[in-house]
Amino acid sequence: MSGPFKVLALGGDHVGPEVVASGLAVLRQAADQFGVAVEIEEDLLGGASWDVHGTFCTDAVAAKARSADAILVGAVGGPEWDGIRIDGPVTETDGLTRLRIELDVYNALRPARAWSALLPHTPYRQEVAEGADLMVVRENSGGIYYGEPRGREVLSDGQIRAFEISEYRTHEIERIARCAFEAARGRRRHVTSLDKSNVMESGKLWRETVERIGRDEYPDIKLSHLLMDYALFAVARAPREFDVLLADNLFGDLISDLIAVVSGSLGMLPSATLPTAASAGHPVKGGLYEPTHGSAPDISGQGIANPIGAILSVAMMFEHGFGLPQAARAIERAVEKALNSGHLTPDLGGHAGTAQVTQAVLINLLSKSA
Ligand code: IPM
Ligand code: MG
Repeated sequence: MSGPFKVLALGGDHVGPEVVASGLAVLRQAADQFGVAVEIEEDLLGGASWDVHGTFCTDAVAAKARSADAILVGAVGGPEWDGIRIDGPVTETDGLTRLRIELDVYNALRPARAWSALLPHTPYRQEVAEGADLMVVRENSGGIYYGEPRGREVLSDGQIRAFEISEYRTHEIERIARCAFEAARGRRRHVTSLDKSNVMESGKLWRETVERIGRDEYPDIKLSHLLMDYALFAVARAPREFDVLLADNLFGDLISDLIAVVSGSLGMLPSATLPTAASAGHPVKGGLYEPTHGSAPDISGQGIANPIGAILSVAMMFEHGFGLPQAARAIERAVEKALNSGHLTPDLGGHAGTAQVTQAVLINLLSKSA
């Protein structure tokens, strides 16, 4: 028996709590099957927290998150809360962003792969997407999201000036570059680093620093650099040519949605955001696990949200948070079998509901052949 691991589950808004319920069902069953003791506590984040406490993330939730072994988040936000204007840092205007800072998680691992059963639901010819397997390593605690100063001011001519700063320090680039090279060691040993070094100072520093870390510390890993604009085209055109994609906070946000195309839906994508590099077989405390998709207000409450992004995030929790990659692989196989047997939510062209897909995954996970 390993653990006990303390898990904080924050459903958030709209479809967030629906998919977190699926994730927790799989978490409980897999923990049981693989002999892991887990203690799960649930709380509020995002608009749900605003409505009760008048803040998007309370100090109490931040404290619980800091002491948890792993945090599972659904999704935050919705039109109800879009009009709320708070003057202050982004950590006060967005609960998820506050959590990322509180936990000091900078290493966002955002994988996407092609699934045989879903190839017809992608815009690709079969031979272009089949076998595609990508991992975005996104710097998640710096860059333009957090650079200071930021804000708005009224100029003497009456114009409003709104601004933020894209800034990186060497140590921030060095540590995320190492995360990407480490991830590549467990995969196909190719890192493609994305930047706008042709126009941005922070992009120039990014490229020089990644190049140096690659040359000095990871000579066994192939390193390529691409300008971000061209990378969007190149990855969309031939996703199988890429392995690990390393990017700063903003560019990583963009490219991680783009690669969902190979999976067939944003609802398929998990993520793990860690306070250190991942380390095979060793639990990393304090990681944040969340589906990449948003809160999808248009379909909330209908029981049709795709739970697989959340379920695969739980698989990443077993791998990185509990140090049990074999449990992660078992969950992934159970998901693959559910897809192969046609359990598809409407975003994938199917008619199954969240609960049906979750049930199929749970049954597959129990069966010996999974
Ligand atoms: C993501 C999201 C967030 C981000 C938003 C909700 C703040 O798009 O996790 O990709 O921009 O980082
Ligand atoms: Mg995003």
